[in-house]
Amino acid sequence: MVAGNGLLYPILGFASFIVFIYMSFGDLRVNYHKEPDLPFVTRNGTQFMVNNKVWYVNGWNSYWLMDHAVHDYSRPRVGAMLQAGAKMGLTVCRTWAFNDGDYNALQISPGQYDERVFKALDYAIAEARQHGVRLLLSLVNNLQAYGGKTQYVKWAWQEGVGLSASNDSFFFDPSIRKYFKNHVVTVLTRKNTITGIEYRNDPTIFAWELINEPRCMSDPSGDTLQDWIDEMSAYVKSIDKYHLVTVGLEGFYGPKNSKRLTVNPEAWASALGSDFIRNSGTENIDFASVHIYPDHWFHDRDFEDNLKFVSKWMLSHIEDGDMELRKPVMFTEFGLSNLNEDFEPSQRDRFYKTILDIIAKSAKRNKSGAGALVWQYFMGGMEEYNDDFGVVPWERTSTYKLIIEESCRLARINGMTQEKGKLKQLCSQKQ
Ligand SMILES: *[C@@H]1O[C@H](CO)[C@@H](O)[C@H](O)[C@H]1NC(C)=O
Ligand SMILES: *[C@@H]1O[C@H](CO)[C@@H](O)[C@H](O)[C@H]1NC(C)=O
Ligand SMILES: *[C@@H]1O[C@H](CO)[C@@H](O)[C@H](O)[C@H]1NC(C)=O
Repeated sequence: MVAGNGLLYPILGFASFIVFIYMSFGDLRVNYHKEPDLPFVTRNGTQFMVNNKVWYVNGWNSYWLMDHAVHDYSRPRVGAMLQAGAKMGLTVCRTWAFNDGDYNALQISPGQYDERVFKALDYAIAEARQHGVRLLLSLVNNLQAYGGKTQYVKWAWQEGVGLSASNDSFFFDPSIRKYFKNHVVTVLTRKNTITGIEYRNDPTIFAWELINEPRCMSDPSGDTLQDWIDEMSAYVKSIDKYHLVTVGLEGFYGPKNSKRLTVNPEAWASALGSDFIRNSGTENIDFASVHIYPDHWFHDRDFEDNLKFVSKWMLSHIEDGDMELRKPVMFTEFGLSNLNEDFEPSQRDRFYKTILDIIAKSAKRNKSGAGALVWQYFMGGMEEYNDDFGVVPWERTSTYKLIIEESCRLARINGMTQEKGKLKQLCSQKQ
């Protein structure tokens, strides 16, 4: 999803948030000297592993961490969000490791980086480490927010090397592929100025995501996008031996898959140049990614129908993970818009619960459903970063409880022993 503008959600001030956290949880101070023990996440078949034990994820999206860490006035929100996530037992946050040519750009022009913004990304990673949260870092946007493939195409035109004005030339133009590979190597080999650890060697990074929501409609056969995924996933692995890699797909089935008729939301979804099975099956792709946005994908359905779709959509992809892909399946974005005509806040609880229940059930049965990440959490005082999906989770007690319950259910399945400290405390309080 792209974040839009608008005062669409009641916002708690930042100050009141701090007071709330302080009253609820006591001392917040962080120091960089206590190094938490945070091993790399690995994979065994359809499951993620940490310390040779299965590991299921309850997590969230806050795409804005780097952007907020650039300026002094907004930087405290980064640590506060990660800390609040950790207090809810969340273990993965998905965020952008790109901002191409836009305000506060990381990459100002091809190969030119703003050190001030790179330091902000260093900061977000260092803070995540402090709070025991791992980051799923996305490397480029298919959409225009924060530059995206359109910006890469514009750059190629400006430098007189572009083959085409189509923004899908991002995938096939050799010059643009070079630009993107340069971004990949620059980020992966970045040495964090705070921790001293190269990104590629940092277990705080859970995994790399190649691109947010890739679509290449100009080639519905899917060959163009598949070729790009083959090349880029191999390139990441040639630089980084440790981290898992995912594509960043929405999860639609392509024209050759019979599930396009039974599971895809509507006919358009098989004409986007992507295919969940083929793309996720790529050798260097370690786990599959899927998004869940029924209210954007259907136009004439009510909430109850949307919930039914969510179950079918998830179970289908989990089945694929077990039977076809033999890889974990992670639902890396799910959200319910507050712009729906019949929207009520209680629907968000039911929508979230449907998804979190399916993950917990899959985990209990050792199936491939590996975790889910809400789109999106943000802090009070930053409504311009909200879209119609954003939630400040502690503003609604029922939502907050639901999230913590999922963290604890998964922690129990993961085996509490590897959940040191905070989570153990959080979940034993609840029993
Ligand atoms: C990996 O999974 C297989 C099959 O589920 C299991 O037999 C094996 O013990 C697992 N390996 C580790 C290191 O857990
Ligand atoms: C592709 O580029 C056109 C302008 O050439 C723009 O209007 C459109 O929104 C772009 N699409 C995406 C997905 O960025
Ligand atoms: C799931 O895996 C665990 C650990 O390998 C095992 O103890 C348990 O019996 C399995 N559960 C099911 C339902 O297969």
